[in-house]
Amino acid sequence: MYYSDDIIEEVRMKNDIVDVISGYVRLQKKGNSYFGLCPFHNEKSPSFSVSRQKQMYYCFGCGAGGNVFTFLMEYENFSFQEAVKALADRAGVALPEEEYTGEARRRADLKAALLEVNKLAAKYYYTQLRQPQGSAGLKYLRDRQLSDDMLRAFGLGYSNKYSDDLYQYLKGKGYKDDILAKAGLISYDERQGVYDKFWNRVMFPIMDVNSRVIGFGGRVMGDAKPKYLNSPETAIFDKSRNLYGLNRARRSKKPYFLLCEGYMDVISLHQAGFDNAVASLGTALTEGHASLIGRYVHEVYLTYDSDDAGTRAALRALPILRDTGITAKIIRMEPYKDPDEFIKNLGADAFEDRIAKARNGFLYSLEVLRKDYDMDSPEGKTDFMKEAARRLAQFSEEIERNNYIEAVAKEYRAGYEELKKLVVNMAVQAGMARPAKRPKSGQNSSRGREDGGRMSQRILLTWLIEDEGIFNQISKYITPEDFSEGIFRTVARLLYEQYERGGVNPAQIMNHFTDEEEHREVASLFHTKIRELSTAQEREKALKETVIRVKNYSIEQAGKDWDVADIEGMQKLMKAKSDLQNLHKLHISVN
Ligand code: UTP
Ligand code: MN
Repeated sequence: MYYSDDIIEEVRMKNDIVDVISGYVRLQKKGNSYFGLCPFHNEKSPSFSVSRQKQMYYCFGCGAGGNVFTFLMEYENFSFQEAVKALADRAGVALPEEEYTGEARRRADLKAALLEVNKLAAKYYYTQLRQPQGSAGLKYLRDRQLSDDMLRAFGLGYSNKYSDDLYQYLKGKGYKDDILAKAGLISYDERQGVYDKFWNRVMFPIMDVNSRVIGFGGRVMGDAKPKYLNSPETAIFDKSRNLYGLNRARRSKKPYFLLCEGYMDVISLHQAGFDNAVASLGTALTEGHASLIGRYVHEVYLTYDSDDAGTRAALRALPILRDTGITAKIIRMEPYKDPDEFIKNLGADAFEDRIAKARNGFLYSLEVLRKDYDMDSPEGKTDFMKEAARRLAQFSEEIERNNYIEAVAKEYRAGYEELKKLVVNMAVQAGMARPAKRPKSGQNSSRGREDGGRMSQRILLTWLIEDEGIFNQISKYITPEDFSEGIFRTVARLLYEQYERGGVNPAQIMNHFTDEEEHREVASLFHTKIRELSTAQEREKALKETVIRVKNYSIEQAGKDWDVADIEGMQKLMKAKSDLQNLHKLHISVN
């Protein structure tokens, strides 16, 4: 961290979490908390909660959670330092000049360093394209009819024929090999030593929603393979959560996005006035992409390539978009390969016309499916209708499902009621049980394997911040050392310190961690679902059992590590065991 803890805490306290999140999510007050639809996964009923008292948010659906800094890190894709800066601005807190520079700061914040080095690389490529040595690149892009405006808007560049000039340039700026390798800009082998990943290619910087360069695609200027070389995934570049062109498309006035496959498609479309085009860059559309899109629009027009691969990709994207509540339509590019070629040959008006004639995604997918069945034979048609029904059963909203059943019945000349019955049968057969989806990796995935001991620790931590009266009653028996090593113990230690100073402040505990995944984990520790217990007696009993379980587990763990020669250790263990006996007699009172 290169801001002091005090200044970070001041920024945090001056930005009320409910106010900040209200700028992004519509929240409604319910009891002590505010609830809304989680912006980090798709859901129809609100499980995203924000607590003014705790100054934390938590989604009971997907496990996203943290304090006000975490929220900006997750939502805006900010690094911790950037979140601090943005919120300092918002609250009018003057931040001191950066206290450290160079290496110290780089170590402190890998993401910030990667963004910095990517930005320098993008500028370097950009400049090279406009130098004599970049003339081949410039000619290539001009031959592809890209205007100077677009070259500038998308920051296109050129990587030279030399195989290490970017490396030398960045090294000259003081960057170490380690960070350049982590940025995916250099490679190493024994024969050649360190060399640039990209050379003799036109360069497409890949930017996140905030127009920060997070990676690159480089295209050969001829027919060599691979056609495009792309940055590997890095700490800042997650292919499944970024869309090319989104930084511009998010500002479009149109209420839908054009979703295509390639760099060139996006740029051509923007050049032709379709400023709402984005691309998933040749990778299959993921839930992460869909939920990102869902933040800006509720409708998508798929303009994938017209070859088989493109058609398959579009068909695969449909259910993912649907599950995120996004309506999808399909635009065909025939007789051309992709939007770029289409526009070059037929122009923007013709493309506009195709948009107007876009096919409903679901009906289109049935049209494609139909080709696999012999629709003239009764068996063929029956099989087809069964498959159609199976797919119809996946619309979870009744009105929507019925509208589709009606449309399909009409198009394939089947009776509405019969088809509806078939759909219900299919739904029953499939059990209608869809597994809960998680947009990001997080604690929930490992929770299943988590043992009861750790679960009890979670419950106790949540309890400790929910009811401040408990601490004094249990701190004699349970110390931070009773919690499992790592995040559990660190959090317990910080919480105990706060209690001893008088005043719990869970959101401040989070400042101690700078990594999003850690924030998630800590937030989950403070939001364990505790069974609703109606009477104080029941709650007291449950709490006592939890305390005993935590102690028991701690003794068990200590016993495992105990060395026969460790007399002192054994004495401790004996003492702990007798404490445990006393605990059974303990009376705890709760609110
Ligand atoms: P396409 O092969 O459709 O390329 O791949 P394109 O976008 O039409 O490219 P041009 O017009 O020939 O220049 C679509 C996308 O798939 C990824 C790229 O993101 C590309 O834009 N791709 C394709 C790769 O990453 N590597 C490749 O070798 C090919
Ligand atoms: Mn193309």
